[in-house]
Amino acid sequence: MDKTVLVSGGAGFIGSHVTVELLAAGYNVVVADNFSNCDRTCFEGVKKITGREDLPLEVVDFCNADEAKAIFEKYPIDAVIHFAAFKAVGESVAKPLMYYKNNLQSFLNVLQAALDKGGCNVLFSSSATVYGEPDKVPVTEETPRKPATSPYGNTKTMCEDILRDTVKASEGKLKSILLRYFNPIGAHPSALIGELPRGVPNNLVPFITQTAIGKRECLSIFGNDYPTPDGTCLRDYIDIVDLAKAHVFAVTRMMEGKMKQDCEVFNVGTGRPVSVLELVNAFEKVNGVKLNWKFAPRRPGDVTAIWADPTLANREMGWKATRTVEETLKAAWAWEKHLAGK
Ligand code: UD1
Repeated sequence: MDKTVLVSGGAGFIGSHVTVELLAAGYNVVVADNFSNCDRTCFEGVKKITGREDLPLEVVDFCNADEAKAIFEKYPIDAVIHFAAFKAVGESVAKPLMYYKNNLQSFLNVLQAALDKGGCNVLFSSSATVYGEPDKVPVTEETPRKPATSPYGNTKTMCEDILRDTVKASEGKLKSILLRYFNPIGAHPSALIGELPRGVPNNLVPFITQTAIGKRECLSIFGNDYPTPDGTCLRDYIDIVDLAKAHVFAVTRMMEGKMKQDCEVFNVGTGRPVSVLELVNAFEKVNGVKLNWKFAPRRPGDVTAIWADPTLANREMGWKATRTVEETLKAAWAWEKHLAGK
């Protein structure tokens, strides 16, 4: 096979895992990143895992239209997977313009550059955040989107709309798949790549692993009075390698012309709700570590319960989540220990 995939934001948490899986499936990959929110650890890890010392890396700021265009001129790109975006919910509330500018501009430039070269396949990394607080769970792709609770979430909804409209107007030049991720967690089984948050983690699992290793004193479980079986929020935690594999299925579907519409949407989740407390208990049990945690007030903007109905992705793409939460939490802990040199 001689197909080339551009992975924007390819040195980040999801991008690095996706790069590994694309290479394993035989695709040529061009990693593009401006390293604004990650260092080179994961890019180096990808090279080690795959033995691909020659893996092309382009240091690009997709907010610069000329830089975006230059990448599409340089490589024969068959598909682009767009990850390059800011992703901290709290920060987006404090700095909305920074989020709208970065997340929208970079995507607009990617789409324009792709169109200028005659078009290609586009995979956009969307989020379950577009469902807001759903009236009914699990959510299917038909579940109505709701106003997001943050500017970050709004950028996902807006990029979905931008993509849909652009594909429609492109007269077949662009084909696209939107993947709506639930909660990606874990790390590669090699422990050579994983999540590397800057500063204090916002997300649950990095906070758990950093508390277990001693970098944080105590995990706060935000809210124990939700209308759920144990009072804590319910989420659909999807293993990062399973999630990465969904991208390979989606890219192949686009490349092989198997799409039923020019713009398709798939939920990428397990279909299994897990509470915060269950996740914390499972982490302690499977890794044999004691975690210092306490209940704390609810975090503003959190939804009570959301999990996926992944039937469409299972049926149409032939993709299915395979890993248990226990396996995933083991991998997350191995990665944290690897970072600590233990
Ligand atoms: C958030 C974003 C989602 C984004 C995802 C990954 C929203 C509403 N959600 O999901 O779009 O894709 O991050 O970046 O915009 N928790 C604690 N203690 C902590 C941290 C988290 O109890 O220290 C709880 C939260 O209250 C929540 C669960 O753990 O119930 C998961 O939180 P988190 O990992 O931050 O993900 P989400 O908020 O679900």
